[in-house]
Amino acid sequence: MLDSNLKNLKKRKKDHLRIALSEDAQIGDAGFSRYRFIHNALPETDFDKIDTSTTFLGKKVNFPFFISGMTGGFDEGARINQNLAKAAQKFRIAIGVGSQRVALKAEDLVKTFAVRKYAPSVPLFANLGLVQLNKGYGLKECERAVKMVEADALVFHLNPVQEAIQPEGDRNFSGLLVKLEKIVKKLTVPVIIKEVGFGLSYDVVKRLYGVGVRMFDTAGWGGTNWAYIEGRRRSVFTRLAPAQRLQRHAVGEARVDLGELFSQWGIPTPESIRMCSKFESELITNNQQPITILGSGGVRTGVDVAKALCLGADLAGIAAPFAKAAMISTREVERLINRFGLELKIAMFGVGAKNISKLKKESLTLNDF
Ligand SMILES: Cc1cc2nc3c(=O)[nH]c(=O)nc-3n(C[C@H](O)[C@H](O)[C@H](O)COP(=O)(O)O)c2cc1C
Repeated sequence: MLDSNLKNLKKRKKDHLRIALSEDAQIGDAGFSRYRFIHNALPETDFDKIDTSTTFLGKKVNFPFFISGMTGGFDEGARINQNLAKAAQKFRIAIGVGSQRVALKAEDLVKTFAVRKYAPSVPLFANLGLVQLNKGYGLKECERAVKMVEADALVFHLNPVQEAIQPEGDRNFSGLLVKLEKIVKKLTVPVIIKEVGFGLSYDVVKRLYGVGVRMFDTAGWGGTNWAYIEGRRRSVFTRLAPAQRLQRHAVGEARVDLGELFSQWGIPTPESIRMCSKFESELITNNQQPITILGSGGVRTGVDVAKALCLGADLAGIAAPFAKAAMISTREVERLINRFGLELKIAMFGVGAKNISKLKKESLTLNDF
């Protein structure tokens, strides 16, 4: 039984990667183009002296963007993680791995996630689904996930809509906040909460703050779309597995394409960042401990990174474009980091911001030109 579960989990990871990297798995556009910087024709700064570095999880990174957690658990995933980690180390940017649940079940898969040896000194995050706390996982499993990658933080992903559409999804999201509170208090590293492409709202961030979470990754709408991806898997799955047809009724599936319908669901990334930022401003006004905001979901250029920072993010995260590059080679990932870095630097020059804290103080206008 366990073997067949493991086989299914590995197959699901492969399917996710294959569908996620097809061009049409990005639905819509996060909407960074709705915002425009006020161009500064007199930047009074030297392009070559612009400093794009920042600090994250106590470590200096050369750029305020990171590689979001994606994969591991099978051969191709291992190669992708290695290529990403080597490039992340070379350019000193932060990086995450994908959900490690599969490697907590099968020791031989640990090596597909264990990238610390390729990225010895950059911030590295472990990853688990928060819903797993309702499937028997507790502090022990969380510590194992952290140790497995020698992580600086543990990312928990929240993905209710994905799980609801996923044919074999875990759908009991009740009572998670209380369980999370215990983990946050006892875990040896900080916890980061992220979505997977539907965004975090003001209210969700506030509730999570209440149980001690201080780092949030929007993973908003407008990038890789997990409703679409699970919808694609579901159309194959429901035809092939009779047992799963029962589940299909259990979630009350009407005669609509769930993937298509919910591919339009979610909070676009810039708006999710603004919601987090509004909450942060209130914390500052009330002299409460501030939060770290990571803005991700559909970030596709260095200009998007700059806009994410202006809207309130401390760093921006990018997933699918990096996975596509890593399928090819480490060199390709390095090229992409270079490209994002150059675009960001030109944007900083264009507004006259000589460093990241200056950039964050710039304002954006709505693009109604
Ligand atoms: C192939 C692939 C696998 C992913 N697997 C995970 C995962 O295991 N855990 C997780 O938290 N997010 C996962 N994500 C979601 C990303 O971390 C990110 O939140 C989302 O893709 C939005 O970013 P993007 O639009 O830049 O791709 C995955 C994304 C991709 C493309």
